[in-house]
Amino acid sequence: MKIKIAPSILASDFAKFGETVQLLEKNGADYIHCDVMDGNFVPPITFGAQAVKALRPHTKLPLDCHLMVTKPAVRIQEFAEAGADIITVHVEADRENVLENLEKIKSYGVKASAVINPATRAEELFPACEIADMVLIMSVVPGWGGQKFIPETLQKIQAVRNFCTKIGRDIDIEVDGGVTEENVKDVISAGANVIVAGSTVFRSPNMAETIRRLRG
Ligand code: DX5
Ligand code: ZN
Repeated sequence: MKIKIAPSILASDFAKFGETVQLLEKNGADYIHCDVMDGNFVPPITFGAQAVKALRPHTKLPLDCHLMVTKPAVRIQEFAEAGADIITVHVEADRENVLENLEKIKSYGVKASAVINPATRAEELFPACEIADMVLIMSVVPGWGGQKFIPETLQKIQAVRNFCTKIGRDIDIEVDGGVTEENVKDVISAGANVIVAGSTVFRSPNMAETIRRLRG
């Protein structure tokens, strides 16, 4: 499967998002990962659909919007209209309506994705695997960049990839949190193909080279 690198602008200068996405595009990124935090599902507040809309004209790359919000259902429309290409909703935010939320995202012509936290079992993502375009497995507790990769995530990636293969669905599996040039090979061999990286990309002295190396 093609490996895609999705740098998270959470680790970048919030006063320069426009320039940053252009730089990422120039340096070989595949997606722009947008970490939306509402101060409720996770303690910090980052930015919302208005910032995504403002970013839209600055890049042709797909905007991969990771919604760390308590009521994803009421937010989907505004992110779709802002120009999101992928919208990811947390299973923990609305366990009852994961499939409905995915269908809602698709109804706007946007790629639909569901995500689980490190504390959530891989099996909770299985129903979403049946209909989602992508699934995301958190490898750190959501809310902050720069944390250490939780090694148990590798088994979860494998379990989700095996399940997808079993049901004949060749979907994207994204991993988010603590990915480095050192551990990315394990993440890819476990079955992930969309790699989020915040600090690894933005702390790098050579962004293009780091993005290239993250391809495993
Ligand atoms: C955490 C975010 C991640 C984070 C990754 O809540 O979802 O996308 O920015 O940052 P690093 O790569 O620094 O762990
Ligand atoms: Zn994220």
